[in-house]
Amino acid sequence: MIKGGTPLHGEVTISGAKNSVLPLMAATLLTKEPCVIRRVPDLSDVKFMAQILTSLGAQVKSEGSTVKIHAAKITGHGDYDLIRKMRGSICILGPMLSRLKKAQVSLPGGCVIGARPIDLHLKAMKALGAKVTIESGYVNCAAKRLVGSEVFLGGRSGPTVLGTANLMMAATLAEGVTLIESAACEPEVVDLANFLNAMGAKISGAGSPTITVTGVKELHGAEHEVIPDRVEAATYAIAAAATNGEVTLHGARMDHMGAVLDKMREAGVEIVRKGPSFTVRRKGALKPVDIITQPYAGFPTDAQAQMMVLMMVTNGISIITERIFESRFMHVSELGRLGADISIEGPSAIVKGGRNLSGAPVMASDLRASAALVIAGMVAKGKTLVKRIYHLDRGYENIDAKLKKLGAFIERVEET
Ligand code: EPU
Repeated sequence: MIKGGTPLHGEVTISGAKNSVLPLMAATLLTKEPCVIRRVPDLSDVKFMAQILTSLGAQVKSEGSTVKIHAAKITGHGDYDLIRKMRGSICILGPMLSRLKKAQVSLPGGCVIGARPIDLHLKAMKALGAKVTIESGYVNCAAKRLVGSEVFLGGRSGPTVLGTANLMMAATLAEGVTLIESAACEPEVVDLANFLNAMGAKISGAGSPTITVTGVKELHGAEHEVIPDRVEAATYAIAAAATNGEVTLHGARMDHMGAVLDKMREAGVEIVRKGPSFTVRRKGALKPVDIITQPYAGFPTDAQAQMMVLMMVTNGISIITERIFESRFMHVSELGRLGADISIEGPSAIVKGGRNLSGAPVMASDLRASAALVIAGMVAKGKTLVKRIYHLDRGYENIDAKLKKLGAFIERVEET
């Protein structure tokens, strides 16, 4: 429950990145030795990945934001219902196949943001020599040996982030060299490559469209600190500007946020670097901007919904085009309940900004849509009730506590 109308003021510390920590946790399956991951955010998706690893035979221990994982012995069969529930769990496929030469993982379904096929993940496993079958809802991969290969991973909407992660991990223990072309360049891919290299892998080129993996005999345990969450940081930066407040973000990496910060500046938001931190505030009236989501280093799809709210409070028309996921506009109808004037034309949302917003009960449909509804609720006059906030807890650590500290009126309430 949010009472809107109060600008956010103060300081917030950004947590470790959800989309980095999930593949990092999966990577620990590649070694018999213990691994330590630091700066792990307290998120339901992380707890879920821990459950999946435990079900495969790994020991997972959490102490504050440090997680120790020891996969001394693992099974090649993943629990159907556990894996099916979280789309991100597909990244256990590569490490399981690499270590055991076989993997059985339930087929992840589509979700509200799009069909989310895994054809490129399967293409990658096949390229290394695995036989891939789909039976009774499971993907089965098996190989006598995995052999390095040249794999073009670009798809209809560009590169695949978790597909690149899966192939990098599968190739670490394959024989010979794997060349990944049209690889995803996201910072989360680089973070994973750094961890794998610390485990003894030989990976070069991560962060560019061409990654080379030279197979090694085995990997050993390693320690790693997760990169800061660039989407969480973008969410707080946008919330500061949307509520007309002033917030200093600590721990975020500006160099991972180029496209978002550039669009915010174009919209009339001032971003002032202060050592390792930066402060966000409006610089006069906001201006409408057009946005097209793209693979990294373009504008991230994961910040599209939040940016739409900033455009809702900006006088004029902005066009937001979603090019990564085919139905990532579920938030539009809910934002309409608060008074937004947004219409959808094909892959674009036309936002007529500057309308008066007033609080209403709204329904969260996915993680980033929920974040957008929370920001909109903080702007709208009166009371907004955001339902199904379990989506928020998947990807935002302590969001209510962090927003309260910034002066927001936000409470978790039981639905009656
Ligand atoms: N795609 C295919 N075939 C495949 C795989 C992907 O056609 O085999 C398509 C997808 O349907 C989509 C595009 O390729 O149109 C890009 O999808 P990608 O595979 O890159 O997405 P992902 O790896 O499954 C990760 C993040 C998402 C984020 C996307 C894009 C994790 C756990 N998830 O998903 O994060 O939106 O990359 O940046 O890392 C979120 O955090 O809210 C979230 C959805």
